[in-house]
Amino acid sequence: MSARAVSRVQGTAIIKKLSNMKILYSPSSFQRWRSSLPIKASIGFVPTMGALHEAHLSLIKRSKRENKFTVVSIFVNPTQFGPREDFKRYPRPFKADVRLLNSVGVDVLFAPSQDVMYGSNHVTEVRVKKLTNTLCGAPRSRGPQHFVGVATVVAKLFNIVRPHKAYFGMKDFQQLRMIEQMTEDLNWDVKIIRCPTLREADGLARSSRNVFLSPRERRQAPRLFQALQQGRKLLTSRAHMSPRAICKKISHLLSVHPSFKIDYIEMVDPATLEPMKVRRRPALLAAAVFMGRTRLIDNILIKP
Ligand code: PAJ
Repeated sequence: MSARAVSRVQGTAIIKKLSNMKILYSPSSFQRWRSSLPIKASIGFVPTMGALHEAHLSLIKRSKRENKFTVVSIFVNPTQFGPREDFKRYPRPFKADVRLLNSVGVDVLFAPSQDVMYGSNHVTEVRVKKLTNTLCGAPRSRGPQHFVGVATVVAKLFNIVRPHKAYFGMKDFQQLRMIEQMTEDLNWDVKIIRCPTLREADGLARSSRNVFLSPRERRQAPRLFQALQQGRKLLTSRAHMSPRAICKKISHLLSVHPSFKIDYIEMVDPATLEPMKVRRRPALLAAAVFMGRTRLIDNILIKP
């Protein structure tokens, strides 16, 4: 066969492989697919709420490198949104998401409906008692019920997908810590993989919610990461500022820009997520702010 013919055949094979993604909508169809796999085939799982961007893809690509099969779920989970939050306006570009997942060679997209996940008989919740009352879980922020919503849906997805490894982003560090704890407490045989925060060139953490920023807010938004970096400098410098003084300084840096309304800025122990009273490392410097109606979160992990 000529080189050109070979490349044409390979090309066809690649296109075939890339367009091979199955879209499954129910636990039973997923279970049928799963039971058709060789027993030892490893499954990597990336749960998402869709509106996929480069950061989601970085988790997916890592799963593809580390597993025989990669499963992605798209489910905009109503139970993790508060009554005043953006559940209705959360972006749902399903067709574009499917094209993107196809293009990176995902094996299965699990895309259940709300009815499939929470039929009228659904009365069970999963609550992780620690780690969920601080930061985003504090009553004046989103509150602990947000994490009950996340823990419950992730528990259900783990039970349906039964992955060997599951991939979560460090941008949502509190969510990740809670899922690590829940996995250990409930004795699931799933390895939770921490994936680094992916950022735009100007430092803004990638997020499905960034599309809601006005051009002016978008220009200002990278200041959040810049302020956190300033906090890192203060913690690692010789200036003996307390964690509280460092957070105050970051808050001041941000509040000079009227577009930011601060939800919280805190320095916490990255294992327990309890606020730190004295300077210590490792430390997690975490923040949530509103720009207009858009809520942005970010954090940096300061290593020992
Ligand atoms: P979603 O916001 O769609 O995020 C899906 C995964 O992508 C999460 O693990 C999140 O931490 C990760 N991610 C998002 N932006 C990232 C970034 N800039 N860098 C690295 N990782 C990033 O998180 C959820 O959905 C939901 O709460 C879910 C876990 C699916 C439960 O409903």
